[in-house]
Amino acid sequence: MSKITFPRDFIWGSATASYQVEGAVNQDGRGESIWDRFSHTPGKVLNGDTGDVACDHYNRYKEDIRLMKELGLKGYRFSIAWPRIYPQGKGQVNQKGMDFYNSLVDELLKAGIEPIVTLYHWDLPQALQDIGGWDNRDVADYFAEYAFKMYNALGDRVKKWITHNEPWVVAFVGNAFGQHAPGYKDYALAVRITHHLLLSHAKAVQAYRQSGNDDGQIGITLNLTPVYPASDSPEDSEAVKFQDGFHNRWFLDPVFKGTYPEDMLTFYQEKYNAPMIRPGDMELIANNPVDFLGINYYTRSVVKKGKKDSFDSVEYVRPEGKYTEMGWEVYPQGLYDLLMRVHRDYNAPNIYITENGAAFKDDKVVDGMVDDQDRLDYLKSHFEAAYRAIQDGVNLKGYYVWSFMDNFEWAYGYSKRFGIVYVDYETLKRTPKKSALWYRDVIIENGF
Ligand code: FCB
Repeated sequence: MSKITFPRDFIWGSATASYQVEGAVNQDGRGESIWDRFSHTPGKVLNGDTGDVACDHYNRYKEDIRLMKELGLKGYRFSIAWPRIYPQGKGQVNQKGMDFYNSLVDELLKAGIEPIVTLYHWDLPQALQDIGGWDNRDVADYFAEYAFKMYNALGDRVKKWITHNEPWVVAFVGNAFGQHAPGYKDYALAVRITHHLLLSHAKAVQAYRQSGNDDGQIGITLNLTPVYPASDSPEDSEAVKFQDGFHNRWFLDPVFKGTYPEDMLTFYQEKYNAPMIRPGDMELIANNPVDFLGINYYTRSVVKKGKKDSFDSVEYVRPEGKYTEMGWEVYPQGLYDLLMRVHRDYNAPNIYITENGAAFKDDKVVDGMVDDQDRLDYLKSHFEAAYRAIQDGVNLKGYYVWSFMDNFEWAYGYSKRFGIVYVDYETLKRTPKKSALWYRDVIIENGF
């Protein structure tokens, strides 16, 4: 392929999340999060791994930012640990936690790296889980209070905010599949939670507009997955419609149209008597539009009609192809299709890829080098897909590779490495992989 050049001002960045990299869980007054509780519960995380130390980013952020600068990153997406700011979820602010994010932001700006901040990347204060977590509507208000506090503290320097990371995962993986904190297996609960998450999102957007930060942008990050049928039978296209409703439309519709999709709403209400929508909720959601959409893309889904009495009568099929260590098919065309769809059906304003990347098996340091050609190829093919979408009219403004460094991969602990920087978990030494060095050149050239 001949050289491709991205639009001027395209933001090339990378991403992490607080619980996955910070460690220092008992330092400087941080409160307990649901992920501390969950990872310390035997049997929940592979090998009993926890985020207690992780990459120790809390204490090594200066070194990490130096490395980001060397790699030429223009943007860094990180999340704030709510329990560092409010150890009890609400009430008394922990100034030391605030100081940390202040210094982190200053250090980034000094390095010429633009911060983009996620307010909720899954580490809910345990104290709020103790009063019901996201099933308790009050938590949506506490979230907006915490958000408002952060806008006031950092909004003079942070101009891009993300309310939630992947509400689908928060609701279903944490509360219906039981694989993430808090670990429940209750679909009705998960559906109720989706609504409270969307409500809390709207309240946090509203709080942003009220905070007087007129020159910044706020959005939400969704994990969207384009869905394809296993065959062209009418049953399979029905399965596609359901799966798309479950994963994508249930979140895209309220965020962009202020309503839930009728088919899914009927299904959830008949089956689970959920969500519980109170008067005014949908108006609040409709009246607080976003400035941008963040998309996390890893793979596609291919589905067929499945067993009738399963949750959704949908079964995944596994097409021939290349797969990552997560068992996710490498399918860059899906990113193109997804971007075009979001552009067409939702007229999404600015779009950022807030996560994209891959875990592969054989990362190891040999003579100071990590030869991760698979990851390099993965990123390259996805950048190409993104480029094509831009050519075809999608307003894609930036790309944050997941992840800046290897880290705590939730239920998989440290067994899955997504970083473009290798982390030796014994010594905590960082080594840029070949993909990071290649990425540096992409950034310099603004293309490849
Ligand atoms: C996403 C999460 C992120 C990371 C990647 C691999 O679902 O947002 O924290 O774990 O998956």
